[in-house]
Amino acid sequence: MKICCIGAGYVGGPTMAMIALKCPDIQVAVVDMNAARIAAWNSDQLPIYEPGLDDVVRQARGRNLHFTTDVAGNIKSADIIFVAVNTPTKTYGVGAGRAADLRYIESVARTIAQHATGTKIIVEKSTIPVKTADTIRSILASNGTGLKAQVLSNPEFLAEGTAVQDLLAPDRVLIGGERTPEGDQAVAALAGVYARWVPRERIITTNLWSSELSKLVANAFLAQRISSINSISALCEATGADVDEVANAIGKDSRIGPKFLKASVGFGGSCFQKDILNLTYLCESFGLPEVAAYWGSVVGINDWQKKRFAARIVKELFNTVADKKIAILGFAFKKDTNDTRETAAINVCRDLLAEHASVCVYDPKVPADEILADTLGKGHTNSRLTVAQDAYAACAGAHAIAIVTEWDEFKKLDYARIYAGMPKPAFLFDGRNILDLAALRKIGFKASGIGKPAE
Ligand code: NAD
Ligand code: UGA
Repeated sequence: MKICCIGAGYVGGPTMAMIALKCPDIQVAVVDMNAARIAAWNSDQLPIYEPGLDDVVRQARGRNLHFTTDVAGNIKSADIIFVAVNTPTKTYGVGAGRAADLRYIESVARTIAQHATGTKIIVEKSTIPVKTADTIRSILASNGTGLKAQVLSNPEFLAEGTAVQDLLAPDRVLIGGERTPEGDQAVAALAGVYARWVPRERIITTNLWSSELSKLVANAFLAQRISSINSISALCEATGADVDEVANAIGKDSRIGPKFLKASVGFGGSCFQKDILNLTYLCESFGLPEVAAYWGSVVGINDWQKKRFAARIVKELFNTVADKKIAILGFAFKKDTNDTRETAAINVCRDLLAEHASVCVYDPKVPADEILADTLGKGHTNSRLTVAQDAYAACAGAHAIAIVTEWDEFKKLDYARIYAGMPKPAFLFDGRNILDLAALRKIGFKASGIGKPAE
């Protein structure tokens, strides 16, 4: 069997590496039009940072895992073609700011239609609006080469930072297909690949539309929990309740459960916001404005939380941060990734720069040029925004420290040493609730967290 995956990004790369590792008899080609990205996958410096991924890639690369820019050749020879290209929020025209931009999906479908012959299974790995399989089928049907294609939906549920573990032992694998004998056969073939390492009872099969929609709904439910606890974090701050204690108390109810109840400066990442906006757009398109408004509020609370965090920094620093140095610890949207897409850090930095603060950022994995470009826009500069090589340099002489990403190394810093090098009063805002605020206050910090009682 031969597999081809179009799109060598955060999903295509790790997912195919795991399939190649677990199925040594299957040849897996990951193709992308971005030659630099492909070159990085073939080098010692992979294009994405993901714990454990180097090891998986090293074991399979060159054996049955290949990264290449030869899109057409691998489409021709593959039995199963995964589509793992990006589906960002549309920035233009109808649906701008909410609908998914399907131009890359359509372009891949056209490329497949152009080069594929015989019998193929096409797998939607990207997150797409429900009914996208119809579009792909229409394009494939017009190719005129007698291609017999079955389109399946197989959304990916991995989270960045834990991708290898998530792929190794997924809660479930979801496969949606057409309820016809040919569709069932295709679903069985794909299920057979995963069954090499995933227990059968964890492989769920549904109709195409349930599978496509479940992906958006899963992300919406996860993000909803974060917005729910973040909304309560504000009430905690107003009343003296502690949001971690509230989360713990409610999470012990097995009907609620403990996961995804960590209050934060706001969720980031390439998908939660994009997918909920897409869901709201779909609801409106199907004449369901009330449903759209309900899910839209999940994004609304997140925007508010990011603003609230920056506003609180300004307020506590006596309502002015002009010309004060603020250290931002962490820029990635969560720990253990170098991904900065939609990270809350961008909003926090921009809000502080708008107040004329001098912002100094440190992140263990995000390069300086990316921090600057993400915050200011490519090619723009602002002398108030700098990037430090380590946390101590970022904090030296700062009036305040804001923890924005929960990197483990921030828990181990020598805060007494840092405090000694800061003008007083020295402030610390823990946007992730990873530090012991009582211990920081003993050192002398004016320390506060998200949803934590004030001093
Ligand atoms: P990404 O931007 O990292 O990677 C997509 C890749 O596709 C890019 O390298 C791009 O060059 C390539 N590409 C685009 N059009 C192409 C074409 N016509 N031919 C060849 N290559 C092409 O995106 P990602 O984070 O891997 O996400 C991919 C999809 O998976 C999205 O729909 C996303 O919503 C979904 N998803 C992402 C995650 C995640 O953790 N990042 C998790 C689950 C699902
Ligand atoms: C999320 C989902 O968890 C994956 O299942 C899904 O496949 C993926 O989106 C996707 O479709 O792209 P990801 O965004 O990589 O994965 O990471 P998460 O762990 O979900 O974190 C998202 C954001 O929420 C991060 O900024 C994180 O810090 C924040 N978060 C998470 C909280 O603020 N509190 C929590 O309790 C959990």
